[in-house]
Amino acid sequence: MAKELIIVLDFGGQYNQLIARRVRDLGVYAEVYPSSIGLEKIKELDPKGIIFTGGPQSVYKEESQHIDPEIFNMGYPILGICYGAQLIAYELGGKVATAPVSEYGRTEIIVDANAAGLKDLSSSTIMWMSHTDYISEVPEGFAITAHTANCPIAAMENAERGVYAVQFHPEVQHSVEGNKVLYNFVYGACKCAGDWKMDTFIAEQIEKIRAKVGNGKVLLALSGGVDSSVAAGLMSRAIGKQLTCVFVDHGLMRKNEGDEVESIFGKNGQFDLNFIRVNAGPEYFEKLKGIEEPEKKRKIIGEQFIRVFEREAKKIGAVDFLCQGTIYPDVIESGLGKSAVIKSHHNVGGLPDTVDFKEIIEPLRLLFKDEVRKVGLELGLPEYLVFRQPFPGPGLGIRIIGEVTPEKVQIVQDADFIYREEIAKAGLDRKISQYFAGLSNMRSVGVMGDFRTYDYAVVLRAVETDDFMTAVASEIPFAVLQTVMNRIINEVKGVNRVIYDLTSKPPGTIEFE
Ligand code: XMP
Repeated sequence: MAKELIIVLDFGGQYNQLIARRVRDLGVYAEVYPSSIGLEKIKELDPKGIIFTGGPQSVYKEESQHIDPEIFNMGYPILGICYGAQLIAYELGGKVATAPVSEYGRTEIIVDANAAGLKDLSSSTIMWMSHTDYISEVPEGFAITAHTANCPIAAMENAERGVYAVQFHPEVQHSVEGNKVLYNFVYGACKCAGDWKMDTFIAEQIEKIRAKVGNGKVLLALSGGVDSSVAAGLMSRAIGKQLTCVFVDHGLMRKNEGDEVESIFGKNGQFDLNFIRVNAGPEYFEKLKGIEEPEKKRKIIGEQFIRVFEREAKKIGAVDFLCQGTIYPDVIESGLGKSAVIKSHHNVGGLPDTVDFKEIIEPLRLLFKDEVRKVGLELGLPEYLVFRQPFPGPGLGIRIIGEVTPEKVQIVQDADFIYREEIAKAGLDRKISQYFAGLSNMRSVGVMGDFRTYDYAVVLRAVETDDFMTAVASEIPFAVLQTVMNRIINEVKGVNRVIYDLTSKPPGTIEFE
């Protein structure tokens, strides 16, 4: 079990979970707590060190979040970042003022060679800045350890007291040597040994889940995606058959995907749990007959999901908990608190109003996607699942433009399978952010073996993106595209044309509908 804990005190900045996550990456468990947590609770948690995050406020405003200065006398090493740095200066008798020049983004930092908190950094290094206030005078006992062209105190420390402050953001990717700053704090100032790994997280979560669930029953809607699969694996390790997973196969999955999910979680799979697969394809196709309008299709698919899930849940009866694979980015995207639930329900189609349960369990709530993947691998889930492409809840239903029919689904499944196979062969499968084949609703004339054809056009899509909000088309080597085209035309019946979609987002979206 992890003994070492770094507390990240949240002063309202945007990168708070990222700070915790960077510290975890260094092998020390870190968790974010509200800045109002109180000294008693901190004592109880007994951390190895405390990090104050950034925040949008100004320390001089009364309504800003402050901290009981007694915290500096408790003997815990403290690192302040941005607002956190200014707060340290303010509380310990230094001065904070509005900077004559605000700094945003990439900034060159000049580092003092003797700085304990900035040990092993280059004398000049690039860090990410984002501030309008700055420390104008250090508190007594503090040394200035870094500056920039516009910021005379970019870092300060009182190593004897174990208090460090940096105006820049060491946690963001663009801060080239930011990790060293966190490393120096965690291993230097806090003297951590680094006892945290994914297997520790799993062991701890399993204990927590067991303590919470007791003898209760848990229901989980398994989509076959990374998050719900990892949640299912983790829950099964913790409570075995007290967990029931309902997998609604809407017939709009990619080729073989339904069977793959069953082979992992079903009767002969590696996990101990109750697994129910509902082959709901026919009822989905029935509802989708003749429907062309994208929003209508999405709505029908979502509603149908609820109906099928509800039917299965009724058979199971009342459960104590509903488990969801909500991960941290979902929590951010939907705002904090209750709304977090809405997004993940939206992902699976919208659940809880219709299902009888007492409480929600979200065992992955604090993890980022790549951490979830690590947990998945640690649990023994196959790589093809753990590194699975993002796949929308409505499935191939929104990758087929216009009416969805079993025949069209078959075409997309086969074409997409070939596309994925060739992309993997070319070694591009983990390099491209997202790629898939879809079906245009267009048919055109072609010629095959001296005969006229009048068949569908498959559209290949591949995009590069960091956040899926904006994207550009991937530059897939032409030879790879040609191989994919040849194979699709030769192997997939009903297709006589293959098109590569060059549209970026915006104006296009990543999916077709
Ligand atoms: P768009 O098409 O909006 O897609 O550019 C952005 C990302 O979101 C995925 N996506 C969905 N995911 N339910 C989901 O869980 C949905 O209804 C949905 N629609 C789009 C899409 O695959 C891409 O990664």
